Amino acid sequence: NAMGRATQDTHLRLQMQDLVNNYIVPCMNCYGICVKDNFLGEGLGNKVLMEVLSLHRNGILMDGKVVSPLSVPTRSIRGDKIAWVDGKEQSCANIGLLMARIDELIIYSTGRLGAYMINGRTKAMVACYPGHGTGYVRHIDNPNGDGRCVTCIYYLNRDWDINVHGGLLQIFPENRSEVANIEPLFDRLLIFWSDRRNPHEVKPAFATRYAITVWYFDGKERIAAKERFRKASAQKALQFTQTSTT
Ligand code: OGA
Ligand code: OGA
Ligand code: MN
Repeated sequence: NAMGRATQDTHLRLQMQDLVNNYIVPCMNCYGICVKDNFLGEGLGNKVLMEVLSLHRNGILMDGKVVSPLSVPTRSIRGDKIAWVDGKEQSCANIGLLMARIDELIIYSTGRLGAYMINGRTKAMVACYPGHGTGYVRHIDNPNGDGRCVTCIYYLNRDWDINVHGGLLQIFPENRSEVANIEPLFDRLLIFWSDRRNPHEVKPAFATRYAITVWYFDGKERIAAKERFRKASAQKALQFTQTSTT
């Protein structure tokens, strides 16, 4: 009933606020990496997994793109298959609920995650490493100030045994000797700074490995990046006009 629903909403909100105040904010500002298990709970977590499985079954996931124009096959750099989801699609309602829950965390953290002023995010990237030894080589999500400041990854893999299935995420925090080893376990949420502080790699996976990632934008960095992009495009267009008219 409505009364029960309101009570449950309040309970969830208080739990979320406690998580942000006592764990996410201090942990991010100290380590730049933070892991929360049992993020959605069994019921909702399972519904999200069912939606991801059906995206995969229906052939919606495509080869992940690599930005640099390299002659080596993309699959040797990143072996995942992905789809971008905005959460409003009829077939992705529960992924939408996951996105809303992560948004709540980030919005409630406003002004407390480093000096960032987060004002937007990407769509959700649903990713599948199909097994047979595919991974993602060491990289930085945002090495050059494209606006992304926080990476959030939600993992969906039940009964995952790192020794059998591989697929470990290793983060090598800048200026620290420790490595963070993150197992891609069902209902686990991982949060980390997207910039050069956190180079990371996905070790080869030998079973199908699912994750959903969203990146949050710092308002100022994003505007500056768009402006740089606009100028570079205008410059290219000008060069093109000059070469094609001479
Ligand atoms: C890069 C980079 C350094 C590292 O990929 O742009 O600077 O430690 N990598 O992996
Ligand atoms: C990525 C990535 C990590 C993971 O997609 O950029 O680093 O554990 N994924 O799936
Ligand atoms: Mn990455």
